[in-house]
Amino acid sequence: MIILGIEGTAHTFGIGLIDIKKDKVLFNEKVQFKGDEGMDLRKLSEFHVANFHLVLDKLEVFFENEKISFKDIELISFSQGPGLGNSLKIAALVAKTLSLKYKIPIVGVNHIKSHLEIGKFFTKFKDPMFLYVSGVNTQIIAKDEFKNYRVYGETEDIGLGNLIDSFARLLGLGFPGGLAIEERAKLSKNYIPLPFTIKGMNVSFAGLYSNLKKKLNEEYDVNDLCYSLQETCFATMMEVVERAMAYTKKKEFIIVGGVASNKRLSEMAREMCKLRSAKYDSFPREYCVDNGAMIAYQGYVDRKRASLDIKNLKPTPYITIESQI
Ligand code: ATP
Ligand code: FE2
Repeated sequence: MIILGIEGTAHTFGIGLIDIKKDKVLFNEKVQFKGDEGMDLRKLSEFHVANFHLVLDKLEVFFENEKISFKDIELISFSQGPGLGNSLKIAALVAKTLSLKYKIPIVGVNHIKSHLEIGKFFTKFKDPMFLYVSGVNTQIIAKDEFKNYRVYGETEDIGLGNLIDSFARLLGLGFPGGLAIEERAKLSKNYIPLPFTIKGMNVSFAGLYSNLKKKLNEEYDVNDLCYSLQETCFATMMEVVERAMAYTKKKEFIIVGGVASNKRLSEMAREMCKLRSAKYDSFPREYCVDNGAMIAYQGYVDRKRASLDIKNLKPTPYITIESQI
């Protein structure tokens, strides 16, 4: 079974192809809006309208080279939400057009669930605890006793990626700043104590950010601050993840979202899981960030909802991980 997935919830318009029988991603391409100064919604939708065809062009070349065609696609899946209305509309429109033109069943899927499920696809974990850390999101998620996804812990203010990016901006390191902070952190081993906030299984990063800002003005060494920032917030996250794993008795752990590509975070996760006799695994960054392949795989998970009827597939910008779809 080959499934085509279309991602379009925010800055990325992506298309992925997954072959379920071969257990393989066949194709995964995207275009991405670079909103250095934040997301200008009008420019964002103009970007998607002007550029989505570039990904379809690449798909066509792939089809030609691999001697496959839309006849071989059994299912089309698209990101129905959550996300920004204008991006969602474009992804939905492209998906519905392809479904109508080639008479392929279509299903709308939950973008957040797809971030998690693609982790299961690569790691083959059955019922893991997830840490979802992107720019906006910092959530600890797992399936509950009814097999529904549930948020066990989250940030009460800014996301971890957001904290890192904000500090990188102060340092003039550009946006997004995750990799630049990681590189600087590697140059230090001098830990400067920073405040951290844990409330049950929730965290908060705004206080830490203010403290870092203050310390920067007090002329602490920048590499030391980057190192201490990482050590403090990653250890904070590991502590709450560990708490959630003990509470839910989960024995597997995966990190998804852009921050997952941080090597130090991965190292801490591996250590934490070793101490708990739990399994930890990571998977390629390309699939940790927004991409079409994860939407294709979620289409497989939700294949029973697919149909040839496109009428009820309106974008759903405000759904959560706990929503029905
Ligand atoms: P979403 O809509 O899925 O939340 P997003 O744009 O907020 O999307 P992602 O693309 O998943 O998020 O991740 C981007 C974040 O990941 C940025 O905050 C970026 O700084 C962070 N990041 C990327 N690489 C690293 C790294 N090596 N270390 C730490 N953070 C990183
Ligand atoms: Fe995402």
